[in-house]
Amino acid sequence: VTAGADAQRVAVVGAGPAGFYATDRLLKSVDHRFEVDLFDRLPTPWGLVRAGVAPDHPNIKVVSRVFEKTAALPGFRYRGNVEVGRDIQHAELAAHYHAVTYTTGASVDRRLGIPGEDLPGSEAATDFVAWYNGHPDAAAAQFDLRTRRAVVIGNGNVALDVARMLVLTRDELAGTDVADHALDALTGHDIEEVVVLGRRGPAQAAYTTPELRELGVLTDADVVVDPAEAELDPASLSWLESDAADGTARRNVEVVQDYAGRSPKGLRRRVVLRYLASPLEIVGGERVQGLRVGRNRLVAGPDGGLRAEPTGEEELIEAGLVLRSVGYLGRPLPGLPFDERAGTLCNTDGRVTDEDGAVLPGVYTAGWVKRGPSGVIGTNKKCANATVTAVLDDAEAGALPTPAGSRAAFDELLAGRCPDAIDYAGWELIDRWELAAGEDQGRPRVKIVERAELLQRATMG
Ligand SMILES: Cc1cc2nc3c(=O)[nH]c(=O)nc-3n(C[C@H](O)[C@H](O)[C@H](O)COP(=O)(O)OP(=O)(O)OC[C@H]3O[C@@H](n4cnc5c(N)ncnc54)[C@H](O)[C@@H]3O)c2cc1C
Ligand SMILES: NC(=O)c1ccc[n+]([C@@H]2O[C@H](COP(=O)([O-])OP(=O)(O)OC[C@H]3O[C@@H](n4cnc5c(N)ncnc54)[C@H](OP(=O)(O)O)[C@@H]3O)[C@@H](O)[C@H]2O)c1
Repeated sequence: VTAGADAQRVAVVGAGPAGFYATDRLLKSVDHRFEVDLFDRLPTPWGLVRAGVAPDHPNIKVVSRVFEKTAALPGFRYRGNVEVGRDIQHAELAAHYHAVTYTTGASVDRRLGIPGEDLPGSEAATDFVAWYNGHPDAAAAQFDLRTRRAVVIGNGNVALDVARMLVLTRDELAGTDVADHALDALTGHDIEEVVVLGRRGPAQAAYTTPELRELGVLTDADVVVDPAEAELDPASLSWLESDAADGTARRNVEVVQDYAGRSPKGLRRRVVLRYLASPLEIVGGERVQGLRVGRNRLVAGPDGGLRAEPTGEEELIEAGLVLRSVGYLGRPLPGLPFDERAGTLCNTDGRVTDEDGAVLPGVYTAGWVKRGPSGVIGTNKKCANATVTAVLDDAEAGALPTPAGSRAAFDELLAGRCPDAIDYAGWELIDRWELAAGEDQGRPRVKIVERAELLQRATMG
């Protein structure tokens, strides 16, 4: 559907929440008429709503209904299975669109930088999540879960997701959209104990309270906290009582202390929440055998926050699997200035800049690749809206570059370069097939995992 001959063309690269929210606001603009081509390197849209959100959280995924409404707006086109920077270069987009907005997210794991990190059995949560969620890049991945104990390093919501996925029962998981290849592995393994390791205390944990509470109502897993580790140090106590503390931290501490007071019911599995312990070395010969950790105390940092400082005390936690869940990192895009430390495109409030801060006209960014890998789905709406405000201001000021190439010229370039690109109708064929297969099995959907099969379904239905 075209928006009209006078419309300005925008390429949005990355069809996750940030890409869809940016597209929505552009297409609903009253003062300026836009056409949006939304690209994704995968055949399927929705980013981490499909490939990140845990299978046992189906309600969160309902946000895709909002994205479907965006896709029905006049001026929208989907260009799946096109990787910008590989199949099509930024310069080619810039030559054919008035504006290009990058919403490519943050898909790689942040490294710990400790010895043993690359031993077999030390895995990035990023890869584990991609595997159980059926991301095509993880279709061939395998995780060896033949161990009694796993350690998850990190105290964010992703750490809780992966810990929970290791202790759900088959009944809890079988009715979800978990990738078929992961179901047997996740429910038939030998793991009895999952230790979740925080380098700071319960008051500094990054996870949110509903996710923490979920651990307390698992069907076949106890949650265990050592009462000594649930006790707050004086600095955390006074911070918690000050105005600087937020409700989440207070509620998290309450929940952790409630867990510390519980007696285990003797269920089949355990999730053990540990605090004030930093990973020092992943030890093992041919594969992981344990994690050497150092005890911390909390001290005030230069910014007034409490940071972990080693006490010199150490211990070894025996484990055959270590899942590193200390945050994601954006990937550089060829031809665009990138802040390697932050893992973001260089930008000022969504306008992409060079390394010296000079704005590159017509180039924008939103979502995790703009501001770093934090925030829930809704956070990206505010973020994308702010970026689109910059696009609209620049359009108003006549500051969007006029592209040399036409829409037809770009379509021809893309057809030659990416004969397997799929449009929105192609995705809808995949979607319908997955939903129908799910209905047959009493599940929300059955995900197609192999890229070749996705492409086949996009043409066959
Ligand atoms: C494991 C996990 C679970 C989460 N669970 C929740 C939850 O339950 N609730 C919640 O509110 N939030 C959750 N979040 C946070 C939420 O998913 C993010 O805030 C959100 O997805 C970020 O949106 P984004 O659009 O910036 O990135 P993404 O969602 O990552 O989307 C980026 C898209 O860009 C595409 N892309 C990347 N590179 C290219 C390229 N070169 N060319 C073309 N396309 C490209 C990718 O394929 C992807 O589709 C979770 C995050 C993770 C990691
Ligand atoms: N259900 C949901 O709503 C849901 C589910 C999943 C993800 N998300 C969101 O997605 C975003 C990303 O989540 P995330 O869990 O990847 O990241 P996160 O919230 O930033 O948490 C990262 C964790 O890693 C720890 N860490 C970092 N470096 C470390 C190191 N060297 N050693 C030990 N620990 C280290 C951090 O501790 P410090 O605080 O000490 O740095 C923190 O606890 C978050 O905003 C999250 O809320 C939401």
